[in-house]
Amino acid sequence: MNRDIQRILVDEARLSERVNELGRAMTADYAGREPLIVGILRGSFIFMADLVRVCDFPCTVDFMVVSSYGGGATSSGNVRILKDLSEDISGRDVILVEDILDTGRTLYNLRDVLSRRGPRSIRIAALLDKPDRREADITADYVGFTVPNEFVVGYGLDYDQRYRTLPYIGILKPEVYTSS
Ligand code: XMP
Ligand code: MG
Repeated sequence: MNRDIQRILVDEARLSERVNELGRAMTADYAGREPLIVGILRGSFIFMADLVRVCDFPCTVDFMVVSSYGGGATSSGNVRILKDLSEDISGRDVILVEDILDTGRTLYNLRDVLSRRGPRSIRIAALLDKPDRREADITADYVGFTVPNEFVVGYGLDYDQRYRTLPYIGILKPEVYTSS
């Protein structure tokens, strides 16, 4: 275990098992369809890579980079698109893949922006859900794990861009935040 990690919240075996379960559920739900799977960078990159390999249906992939403004939890347009989709989503079944649903503002606003482009459907797959922090009216259609209100890193998630490559999800030692 990395010396900056206080506790492992979800280990590699449990991650793999749960991502497989999500892939099976999505495979049943998207039978006969060919969705566009959209990774929200950067936090989703490892989850997305594992998830698409257990989804047994034809699909295409695309990526977005967004940054969220503060703003109201129910107002739209508070999401800044730093890298937009390369694909046209009109008529498509879109699956947004996110690392963690926290306040929910980012995905609430992003879904609103994308829904105006005429997709057939938009669903959300979030590896982690922190429901205690929710401010916007949004839930994910596929959730890996519900987690307590603690800052987590690993399996794509970062603190100050570090720890993304850890193979598990862990809670950082408090001194990591307070030093430097
Ligand atoms: P919302 O809009 O739902 O934003 O508040 C979700 C984004 O906030 C970041 N986030 C975290 N990143 N560990 C992280 O590494 C965490 O515990 C955490 N909580 C929120 C993350 O970028 C996510 O996409
Ligand atoms: Mg993120």
